[in-house]
Amino acid sequence: MDLNIKVNDKDHLDIGGADAVDIANEFGTPVYAIDENRIRDNYNRFYNAFSKYYPDFKVFYACKANTNLAVMKILESEGCCVDTVSPGEVYISEKLGFSPDRILFTGNNITNEELKMVHDMGVILNVDSRSALKRLAEVVDPKGLKVSIRVNPMVGAGHHEHTITGGVMSKFGIMDNEATEVYKLAQDLGFDPIGIHSHIGSGILDPEPFKLAIGSTMDIAGKVHDDLGIDFEFVDFGGGIGVPYTPDEKALDIDHFAHENVEFFKGKLKEYNMKNPTMFLEPGRYIVADAVTLLVQVNSVKQSYRKYIGVDAGFNTLLRPCMYGSYHHIVDASKMSAPITQEVDVAGDVCESGDLFARDRPLPDIEEGDILGILNSGAYGFTMASNYNSRPLPAEVLIKDGNPTLVRKAQTFDDLFRNQIIPDYLQ
Ligand code: LLP
Repeated sequence: MDLNIKVNDKDHLDIGGADAVDIANEFGTPVYAIDENRIRDNYNRFYNAFSKYYPDFKVFYACKANTNLAVMKILESEGCCVDTVSPGEVYISEKLGFSPDRILFTGNNITNEELKMVHDMGVILNVDSRSALKRLAEVVDPKGLKVSIRVNPMVGAGHHEHTITGGVMSKFGIMDNEATEVYKLAQDLGFDPIGIHSHIGSGILDPEPFKLAIGSTMDIAGKVHDDLGIDFEFVDFGGGIGVPYTPDEKALDIDHFAHENVEFFKGKLKEYNMKNPTMFLEPGRYIVADAVTLLVQVNSVKQSYRKYIGVDAGFNTLLRPCMYGSYHHIVDASKMSAPITQEVDVAGDVCESGDLFARDRPLPDIEEGDILGILNSGAYGFTMASNYNSRPLPAEVLIKDGNPTLVRKAQTFDDLFRNQIIPDYLQ
């Protein structure tokens, strides 16, 4: 099994050398428990795999997956760069010490104000449309400004329809067949278009679509190079690399994956007689997903027409199962080797029937008070959490070499309502 699961000598779930039950007792539940060393390992495995075959390579961590400040600091300290999608993400990246040349902005449907704001913050933009290009030229001085264009490589993949970002149904990027025109427009407006970007989707374990997308992005880049003589400084193939969520799924052999894709990429550079650009990738999930476990406590075991294990978190805390039907492996952190005895539904505490973490899940005998670990919660877990049902966002704890530290306090009730204003006439 390729899931990141460790058990300690008390038969409890081990997270980065700390006991999951102790973490739950000390910090309360629900709590997101982050394993620092796993993040470092994931980043280095990824970076080393590609840079070994193509040294002019940079990783831009797609921070929408997890913007915990400690997580971002860890990646900053590793030398990682960051891919952002909003002025807020640029703001926090710069504040944490990422210099502007280590930040990419890949927004879509953004306003003139936002375009100007991110430009003024000094970061490189992956421009998503003709409209954005023209509007950017209106709000900043385009003279010699380096920009990159996001193209639709007409390849899409993803773990769910909502996470596919290439092909005819996708809102992202410019059409493959208008690339020369749009790059020409960029030049005519005064820009220096030196980058090309594509991103096909998220949660992809099959290597094939990546190869197709690299091929098609390079064919687009090659044509633009031939037509306009543009020498690309960088080629950015986005993110999307999946991780195993179920016990049956196999992790990608990242070294093999890197080797195959780099060879293919080099072949394309040769085919189009292109100089060697820097290669960018923007993994989010791959870096953080399996480094974080959501710990919850069982508060009620109920036999209705089905058997429910009720826990003290819901889709307000981890949305993925409800939003995408995503599988997250669940373990009883209090008794890891207990035999599987039943198939049960694991339900949250939100007042909606869809608030389930799992249906018909094989689990051991679970008692009220047990601590469950919901694995692979590091990517798009906390960042998609909400205050629905007026529940505070949970705490986050960072574990380094067995020592847990609180890195985000749980919200208070006051935090929930802080920004609301009751008009005078209702006072
Ligand atoms: N680059 C761009 C331009 C993206 O839009 C994304 C993700 C990434 C990189 C990183 O993709 P990753 O390596 O993490 O797959 N909420 C969904 C995932 C949405 C992904 C959005 N874009 C989920 O929970 O599965």
